[in-house]
Amino acid sequence: MQKEILTVFYLVASVTFIVGLKMLSNPASARKGNLIAAGGMALAIFATIFLYQDESGKGLHNYGWIAGGLIIGSIVGVMTAKKVKMTAMPEMVSLFNGMGGACAALISIIEYHHYIGVLFADRPFIITEILLVSEGTIGYLIIMLLGVIIGSVSFAGSVIAWGKLNGKIKDFSFKGQHLVNILILLVILALSVYLLFNLSESTYLLFYLIFILSLAYGVLFVFPIGGADMPVVISLLNSFTGVAAACGGFLYNNKVMLTGGILVGAAGTLLTILMCKAMNRSLKNVLIGSFGTSATQTNNTTQSGGSYKEISVSDAAMAMNYANKVIIVPGYGLAVAQAQHICHELEKILEQRGVTVMYAIHPVAGRMPGHMNVLLAEADVSYDKLLEMELANDEFKSTDVVLVLGANDVVNPAAKNDPSSPIYGMPILEVEHAKLVVVNKRSMKPGYAGIENELFFQPKTSMLFGDAKGVLQQLVNEVKQL
Ligand code: TAP
Repeated sequence: MQKEILTVFYLVASVTFIVGLKMLSNPASARKGNLIAAGGMALAIFATIFLYQDESGKGLHNYGWIAGGLIIGSIVGVMTAKKVKMTAMPEMVSLFNGMGGACAALISIIEYHHYIGVLFADRPFIITEILLVSEGTIGYLIIMLLGVIIGSVSFAGSVIAWGKLNGKIKDFSFKGQHLVNILILLVILALSVYLLFNLSESTYLLFYLIFILSLAYGVLFVFPIGGADMPVVISLLNSFTGVAAACGGFLYNNKVMLTGGILVGAAGTLLTILMCKAMNRSLKNVLIGSFGTSATQTNNTTQSGGSYKEISVSDAAMAMNYANKVIIVPGYGLAVAQAQHICHELEKILEQRGVTVMYAIHPVAGRMPGHMNVLLAEADVSYDKLLEMELANDEFKSTDVVLVLGANDVVNPAAKNDPSSPIYGMPILEVEHAKLVVVNKRSMKPGYAGIENELFFQPKTSMLFGDAKGVLQQLVNEVKQL
């Protein structure tokens, strides 16, 4: 009976994962979706602790260790999540993802020891062991090997990604690195096949060699990937962790772990594809290209010497106040300045004056997928005011003023016009079609890709220098006086 109840709890938890994931696809329901899925996970964990029984009817043991892990993990998780700045979110996601990969790899290592110990024990099998052995050696071993390989790649790769994002680890590549990577993969594959057909009591060493080579592959595979491609890699590693966790689900015959792992794997894969599309790049190009690295390092100091116009706060306020339609383009700088609330205030005041105000959201604006959506949601900006890139590009032609707030690469026409540009091919927000473009940033410094932006020198563009929060506050004051 206890088993049946546990299965029902697992089913409920699996449904909460699916419902939660669905709700995450809309900013309005995302917070609730996250809570629902987290609630489902808590349910699955506690149901396992209190209701699990093996074939011989024995429950779990080691409750002290389990409670210790749960308490320490929860404290670390809650504290980190509360402290993390929005701009550091991708690195936190990467580190936590790495921990998931490490857990999945550890499960495979422990189960390998268990399995070999049972298989070559010099005594008759006990009932649970008969079941374990009858699972079929090859199938069981394949899952263990997949778990340790994918989990270790995900762990090592995520730690490197975390270090690269917070600046602790620098990009590193050497000639022929991709060949070395392919070679390591082939060796891992060959050793795994050998292990499958030559299982003995002494193959621990081989198993650990596969583990170490997988860690090395994870490190080498992420090291050379360019800065701007990191989100794609993190998302890919995320899907790896999901698959590795699903392997753990297979090993333990645990349905909720299997469902959770498959959902993470599938969601990570879809997000990877979507982000590649947003940057107009193929996954292969991301993995073996070096988008964003060379440009960041070599073009930082490029100065065209072109001239640009400046606009005063009062003139910008006037232009927006008497406009029919204003589109705001938020970017990374808006998040840095934490100016989302004052931005919403400007939007409300302009709307009271009869101006239509909307926001144009680029899929890779900011530093993580959905960064601008989350930022604006924090300030209670209505979701129906957010225009996706394609829609926004249709709207610019009939827009009087575009206010670019701390965005740079996502409005850089070089992506369309300059085949030598490192961002060439990335779809951008075509703000230059509006009647007037006001760009707020603090200086003429480049954005993430490290390249100059010709938009700033175009006749319809005027620069409004200053920290986004201060400038927006001044704009609000000015508009109020008109
Ligand atoms: P960026 O191109 O990074 O430009 C941001 C601009 O904000 C900078 O030029 C900076 O200029 C300005 N800024 C910084 N602090 C500011 C402040 N306090 N007030 C006003 N302006 C400020 O941003 P973007 O247009 O959002 O493009 C995102 C870039 O990041 C893309 O290249 C994308 O590929 C990359 N990326 C995206 C992601 C994801 S998934 N979203 C993840 C990693 C990387 P000043 O210094 O002159 O002020």
